[in-house]
Amino acid sequence: MHLSVVGLFFALFTLTCAQISSINYGRIVQNLSPQDPSQKMCYGVVFDAGSSGTRVYVYKWECRKTSSTPRLQVSEQIPEKSIRGGISKFSSNPNAAGPSLIELINFAKGIVPSEQLSWTPIFLRATAGMRLITPDQQAAILDSIRKTFRESGFRFEDEGWARVITGQEEGAYGWVASNYLHDLIKKQVDGTKTRAMMECGGASLQITFVQPQDPPKNKININFPDINQYVLYTHSYLGYGQDQARNEVIKASIVNPNDDTVISPCYNKNFNSTNVFSGNPNLRVIGSGDATKCAALIKDYMKLDPACKDCSIGGNYYPGIPEGMSIDGLGSFVFVNQFYNFTDSFSANALFARVNDFCSSEWSSVQRDHKVDEFLSTRCFSGIYVSQLLTSAFRVDPDTAISARSKIKDVTVVWTLGSMLFDMSTLRCSPGTEDCIYDDDRYKKALLYTFISVLSFAIVVVVLTVIIVAVRRRQRQRMYNRV
Ligand SMILES: *[C@@H]1O[C@H](CO)[C@@H](O)[C@H](O)[C@H]1NC(C)=O
Ligand SMILES: *[C@@H]1O[C@H](CO)[C@@H](O)[C@H](O)[C@H]1NC(C)=O
Repeated sequence: MHLSVVGLFFALFTLTCAQISSINYGRIVQNLSPQDPSQKMCYGVVFDAGSSGTRVYVYKWECRKTSSTPRLQVSEQIPEKSIRGGISKFSSNPNAAGPSLIELINFAKGIVPSEQLSWTPIFLRATAGMRLITPDQQAAILDSIRKTFRESGFRFEDEGWARVITGQEEGAYGWVASNYLHDLIKKQVDGTKTRAMMECGGASLQITFVQPQDPPKNKININFPDINQYVLYTHSYLGYGQDQARNEVIKASIVNPNDDTVISPCYNKNFNSTNVFSGNPNLRVIGSGDATKCAALIKDYMKLDPACKDCSIGGNYYPGIPEGMSIDGLGSFVFVNQFYNFTDSFSANALFARVNDFCSSEWSSVQRDHKVDEFLSTRCFSGIYVSQLLTSAFRVDPDTAISARSKIKDVTVVWTLGSMLFDMSTLRCSPGTEDCIYDDDRYKKALLYTFISVLSFAIVVVVLTVIIVAVRRRQRQRMYNRV
């Protein structure tokens, strides 16, 4: 009778303990298995707040095991969506800046699984348009955006998660994006084997590359702790994006400040329109379509110093792109590559030949021959500008091919990719959160639980054995006593 009750308890204990330890054991096995088929994906959201619009990108990667650089999934298209008008336009009405982004936040919410929102980081990085307004205006706009982000359901921890980045950061992130997509950001690849990056936006221009010797100026360190680190030369020229440069070059052709008409060699022959020059919408611009004259005006605007060998635009330090290094172009480079019918790459010489032809064409026939293109009138200038950036500003051999692809495989080459990689590699996997499923601390905890279960199981076994032995002895004693 006594014996059977004890036996039942023993069986129950054994079962419970076995169950507890098998759960933990299962977790550990799952956590240690390198190719878990149900590998969970983690997400990150980054907003590119540019001068003419805001675009959101949703990147994803296999959830990290430790605090390391995530491996972004770049085998498929990255979801993106944009709205027109830069956030800097809210300078007189800053409280509307945050709510203006809700449409894009909702787009991101449609991609990230809802149970993962609270640990999915959301970043906003603003560029040239915001650099041009006052610090007070910037702060008011960013405060409104931070408030909206905090209420969005995404993970938004620090003011720095929504901020204006410097031109150097923008250049460095663009460099990372392109080299990452070319599979050159890794341990085995020496920095000198990476590619140089030129990016020409609307308001600013960036150039970035690894220099064999540390550059004395314009140096930026990019460190991916578990991969590699790079010393980059990078410079951002505010005012040398194609829209700002075009306006300055038109201005240079104005003979008398009171003139209501200007003749510009940077527009197609017999182009004739107002609403072209941002300094005065009423100014009538007449095109003369002379690429060589336009190139000379651009060179003047670049304020090059022929006596300085290590200088570029405005006399700024520029060491030259190392010989043999491949060059990528983004922004205007991509638009020019497409418009002038090149496939993926072009040289300054080949570009200038086509541009020369195009600019000297009559505006009326150009309009007839091209499908609707809201930037058609600026194509002549941008072609000349890009060719002059290459040959005059950055002294690239005029026959060197510049690669100008907007996408590599299916992924848009854009600095946000570099920014996301860099921000995530500096963001620790914090114990107790889900963004780091293989976190070391959790693994240690699982080990501890197993150890405790096994230990308690052993204690129970010992205790029960002692009890059983004691009970049996007593039974035997009773039998003796009866006998
Ligand atoms: C440009 O257009 C305006 C308005 O249509 C016209 O009056 C003017 O004569 C034109 N100028 C040239 C040089 O074609
Ligand atoms: C590019 O090719 C298209 C189609 O053949 C042609 O219509 C267009 O004029 C070309 N563009 C230039 C700038 O040569």
